[in-house]
Amino acid sequence: MPPKTQIVDITNDVNYEKYLYKCLAPAPFRRYSRRHEYLVKAIPKGLRKKLLISEGKVVGQIEYAPAEASGYPIVGNNIIVMNCIWVLRRAKGHSFGKLLIEDMIRSEKNADGFATVALENHWSPWLRKWQMEKLGFMPLDRVDVSDKARHREIVFSIYLMWMPTKKSAELPSLDKQKILWGETFCFSHPLYRPQTWKETIFDAKTRF
Ligand SMILES: CC(C)(COP(=O)(O)OP(=O)(O)OC[C@H]1O[C@@H](n2cnc3c(N)ncnc32)[C@H](O)[C@@H]1OP(=O)(O)O)[C@@H](O)C(=O)NCCC(=O)NCCS
Repeated sequence: MPPKTQIVDITNDVNYEKYLYKCLAPAPFRRYSRRHEYLVKAIPKGLRKKLLISEGKVVGQIEYAPAEASGYPIVGNNIIVMNCIWVLRRAKGHSFGKLLIEDMIRSEKNADGFATVALENHWSPWLRKWQMEKLGFMPLDRVDVSDKARHREIVFSIYLMWMPTKKSAELPSLDKQKILWGETFCFSHPLYRPQTWKETIFDAKTRF
């Protein structure tokens, strides 16, 4: 860890509550109901939110939970699912992303492996597959979809990404039917389904 850099678990720290809700997004802090419902359910089941603080500034974050408490429909045996990782662009070049991943692996050393999702060809810059690969995940499965509400003409891929840490680890799976509903744990996420949208938000473009 570089000097003046630390990773702090803020899951249960009221002083950092705003980072549980808006993470690093430049949005006003509000305790919105879907996030609140998710936190109330997931924290007792092992959700962790950590910040990377460098020279007194919050420049990175990671959020993960056992599969059962994660924000994605990923099914696995004794695995941890990373909901999100984010290092601000201005803090690039210090291996902060790697440090957050290593911290997660160290903290969850009994897990058989780590899974997450990544995107390819999505219009946003978020959760790019190549970035998740750089962090150590490999693609296991994918579903091609289009968004029913925005940029309907763009077909993008949602990948299940995997990083086993035990030789005996069983492969996880992505519930593709459920991922078509998007996610509701974070409103800054590219797969977020708005509260007003009462059906699946994605159209599957591949058969499964
Ligand atoms: C992915 C991310 C966490 C990586 O963090 P980082 O601190 O910039 O990356 P690191 O310095 O730890 O580098 C990790 C690896 O990626 C490589 N890398 C990072 N940026 C790269 C780039 N632009 N091109 C090529 N390789 C790159 C590094 O060289 C390193 O690989 P190595 O170990 O083989 O040298 C960061 O880029 C990020 O937050 N991206 C956005 C993630 C996102 O979409 N979050 C969701 C928000 S809603």
